Amino acid sequence: MANDPIPTPSIKDLQDDRMGEEDDNIFERRELLRPQHVPDKSRIVGRDEEITIVEELLKPAAVGDPPESGFIFGKTGTGKSLVAKHVTGRARGIAQLKEVNLAAAYVDCDQYNTETRTARRLAFSVRDAVEPERYIPDSGVGASRYYDELWGDDGMFNQVDAFIAILDEIDKLGHDATEVLSKLSRSEEAGKTGCYIGVLAISNKTDYTESPDERVASSFQDDPIVFPPYDATQLREILERRADAFKEGTVDGSVIGLAAALAARDHGDARRALDILRTAGKIAKKSGESKVLEEHVKEADEYSDVNRSIKLIQSGTPHARYALFALAYLTKTKLDDSFRTTKIYDVYRDVAIATHADSVSHQRILELMKKWSLPEITENYYTGGGKSEGSYREHRLLHDPDIVMSSAIEKDSLQDVLEHLQSKGV
Ligand SMILES: Nc1ncnc2c1ncn2[C@@H]1O[C@H](COP(=O)(O)OP(=O)(O)O)[C@@H](O)[C@H]1O
Ligand SMILES: [Mg+2]
Repeated sequence: MANDPIPTPSIKDLQDDRMGEEDDNIFERRELLRPQHVPDKSRIVGRDEEITIVEELLKPAAVGDPPESGFIFGKTGTGKSLVAKHVTGRARGIAQLKEVNLAAAYVDCDQYNTETRTARRLAFSVRDAVEPERYIPDSGVGASRYYDELWGDDGMFNQVDAFIAILDEIDKLGHDATEVLSKLSRSEEAGKTGCYIGVLAISNKTDYTESPDERVASSFQDDPIVFPPYDATQLREILERRADAFKEGTVDGSVIGLAAALAARDHGDARRALDILRTAGKIAKKSGESKVLEEHVKEADEYSDVNRSIKLIQSGTPHARYALFALAYLTKTKLDDSFRTTKIYDVYRDVAIATHADSVSHQRILELMKKWSLPEITENYYTGGGKSEGSYREHRLLHDPDIVMSSAIEKDSLQDVLEHLQSKGV
């Protein structure tokens, strides 16, 4: 590599390079706390029942019989992805022992959010497992080509006894979800390849309505598997069983208990509990402490609170976001800290104009604004202007207005909106 512009220092120089120094006195195995980490069975807490149900669905596939498919519902961080991966992994392991050829694929539909992307992901996963040399185009073809690679005449399913597909966050596929599900089930019914197919379809939305129509319903278990949120005790145990992510003696029970309690406040989300603990460790490390302290946990909680709020705002509907933007703008530019709906509505209308949207009614904006108080982005209350004036509702922003403004409007339009408001003298 004579032309490599990046220099490689001599071994001698590297020997006392400070980049090589082991200076982490907090973490031992930080990877145990990463959200993508799939913990082994001994670290999974309180999901025995759900694991058993999923096992029942997939077990036949591990011994060469047809598996069943199931829907898994539950709020974020309730262990849905974990349980699906865990049980599928075990099924594949048992199949290997029994010399059954079981292929499995995991698709995060949030990332692969169209039928073609999901189909390609499925085909690529099977290829990697059974025929790594096979050529499959990665662009320029549609979903049907990928299905063909799987169950066409020369498809890879000819080499497979059973196939398990985990379609995670399937609601992100919108209407394409039904397409994917029905094609998977039809291919099996057609029995062209003799490969049995089981699907685990997962959604974070408990009211997910893109449920399979008749074309697919028959191959799914009747009742969805619902994952309830964890309570503080379970969250605590989840964290305790990951405590070896830290060096011995750096976290104690009170720190773990606090992280669990803070995460349980919302809806018992294990991802958030792990997030708080990991962030607390990072804060402790950065501040040069030799222990994770309660104050680090509190700071971590606030920090991830901000992240959570940003995500929440970004996922709001356009008019809800515009109205929230209006409140943030008022909060930033006016002396008051709470504002009447009417005032917010005036600014909202200008935001709508600047984003080329038709504005919705005053009443609708009031409804949308009230909704922001649930996740505590805002609070609102009645205030009396004396009997003659009647009472009216005021809204107050509970977050940094700059952060709210930049999360509530798409990046490309932010400048336009601000200029428009300023030109109107708002
Ligand atoms: N019962 C549990 N025991 C141990 N860790 C868990 C448990 N449930 C969830 N987790 C951890 O919490 C995080 C979120 O879980 P995940 O399965 O991704 O939730 P979901 O898919 O329901 O949003 C993951 O890092 C996972 O390892
Ligand atoms: Mg998940």
